[in-house]
Amino acid sequence: MEQIFITDVSPRDGLQNQALHLSTAAKLELIRLLCLAGVSSIEATSFVSPKAVPQMADAAELLHQVNQAFPALRSSVLVPNLKGLQRAQAAGAKEIAVVLSATDMMNQKNINMSLAAAVAASEQTLRQAKINRLRTRAYIAVAFECPFEGIPPLDRVLALAEQMLQAGADEIVIADTIGAAAPAAVKERITALAEVVPLAKLAIHLHDTRGMAVANAWASLEAGIRRFDASAGGIGGCPFAPGAAGNLATEDLVLMAEHSGFSTGINLDRLLTVVDFAQAELQRPLGGRSSTWLRRQRERRAAGD
Ligand code: COA
Ligand code: ZN
Repeated sequence: MEQIFITDVSPRDGLQNQALHLSTAAKLELIRLLCLAGVSSIEATSFVSPKAVPQMADAAELLHQVNQAFPALRSSVLVPNLKGLQRAQAAGAKEIAVVLSATDMMNQKNINMSLAAAVAASEQTLRQAKINRLRTRAYIAVAFECPFEGIPPLDRVLALAEQMLQAGADEIVIADTIGAAAPAAVKERITALAEVVPLAKLAIHLHDTRGMAVANAWASLEAGIRRFDASAGGIGGCPFAPGAAGNLATEDLVLMAEHSGFSTGINLDRLLTVVDFAQAELQRPLGGRSSTWLRRQRERRAAGD
């Protein structure tokens, strides 16, 4: 069976926009449960301004504990600039992700930089990270639609992806930050991107605002993508992108992929345990579109049917 590779971003994308702020211990438990479910790659936290995102203020302490507790886990952290990189490295980061948006206004809102300044900051951060022998990812956010500027020109998205590759990104993560893409656009943009970035280095990051994340994941698979971001229970959303709802739920992606001839290495029952935990901690109902059905299956099995 062909494998797909999933990075669970719930500890970062999932928690950065929550009204309830989890303790460092609760975040560590979330990550432990993800590991138990078979998740081999996570985005643990972000080294951003604690004024901008107070939910991530404990990044250094959390990363330190994650590295101690799960040395084999591939854990990445988001950094917006050189200061973030320095903080991340001091805390023991082995992999970082820079976040560049495809429009001027989204960069302004998210990281207080123009598009040109954001490109420069991302390039500088990637170059320094490579010198320091870190693994690197580069997000191209709002690659399908921006809440402020609409659909960014495809040529610009291609140019930004190429620039990030040149600057040393090991992986280019194409993000539908507000969940506005449809499968046809996903296929079109991924096919075009594959001309400038090797498919093995391309990943997709989907949100489920309009209920199309699984369809978009399928379109990505058909276009040759094998690397996905997803979030257990679908928890997620950017605080600076109005209208953004939760991420593609990891359980929805795993269910779709495993029923379509791909293996993920992730156990769905154990993934539900992660969702239950996050739900209890965040005190609100969570779960992807498949979760009601998955929970019913679990109850039936427990009842011995
Ligand atoms: N981590 C922590 N603090 C940081 C930082 C980082 N990566 N980068 C800058 N700072 C601090 C500066 O030291 C300065 O601190 P001071 O006020 O105590 O002197 C303060 O933040 C302002 O610095 P400045 O360079 O002017 O930053 P800014 O106010 O223009 O903010 C960012 C820029 C990138 C730091 C901020 O917009 C940010 O953290 N954005 C993150 C957005 C995010 O996480 N979005 C969701 C994920 S896509
Ligand atoms: Zn996201």
